[in-house]
Amino acid sequence: MSEPVGIFDSGFGGLTVVRRFLSMLPEESIVYFGDNARVPYGSRSQGEIQAFVLEVAEYLVEQGVKALVVACNTATAAALPVLKETFSLPVVGIIEPGAKEAAMTSHSGEIAVIATEYTVNSGSYQEAIKKYNSRAKVYGQACPLFVPFVEKGKLSGPEVESAAGEYLSFLADTAVDTLVLGCTHYPHLVNVIRRVVGPELRIVDPAVATVATLREVLQKQGLLAPASNVPGHRFYTSADPEQFRRFGQQLLGFPMDYVKQVPVKK
Ligand code: DGL
Repeated sequence: MSEPVGIFDSGFGGLTVVRRFLSMLPEESIVYFGDNARVPYGSRSQGEIQAFVLEVAEYLVEQGVKALVVACNTATAAALPVLKETFSLPVVGIIEPGAKEAAMTSHSGEIAVIATEYTVNSGSYQEAIKKYNSRAKVYGQACPLFVPFVEKGKLSGPEVESAAGEYLSFLADTAVDTLVLGCTHYPHLVNVIRRVVGPELRIVDPAVATVATLREVLQKQGLLAPASNVPGHRFYTSADPEQFRRFGQQLLGFPMDYVKQVPVKK
């Protein structure tokens, strides 16, 4: 069996990346880590996020993964360089691929990124988008209630609609034609987001470009699993494994046969 790819997030958000992974790289195996005991990362300091991310990545590397996917924008913004310095295996972040796709597809050159407080304040998307379109105008909007909604299993309803309406109201005064879901939890809320922004706006989920980037990296390094590989997936959470399995399977639309709890530092 070919070695698995390690994918991690602060919680259930990274499953939106796993979903793309399963359809785009069906022969590859996954070891996923959701740090549900310490979610949210998005309101924490860089030092704290880096410490959490290094601890989780270390665990995945010990499991024998051949590459790491940072399926968390906040972790990518706070810790991608330190991850690349620390580990010798390929590490793929989620911001650059999503930023590139947004820059390439916007016609008006006005792009909005909704993300956690940390990601918005880091300016990482602004910087990455401008690499591909130096004249782009980038709006960043934090949506601090979205991650807790998803973690609690609240994916629709009046509370979510009203928060989304408020967070996205700034779009009315702009020429934005492209909206980046700059937090991996947000695609779980895409139905509500789509209703609020209407049918015209292009919504970019960076997960697709991220998995495509991973595929290129694995190919270049001769690490792709053979087509004959029978994949096996393992899921780890720092919180309650039964709850992770129940809600995770529902979000993913895929069975989670192997779910274990891994304790983390507080
Ligand atoms: N899913 C994570 C992201 O992409 C962050 C959620 C959190 O705040 O923990 O940014």
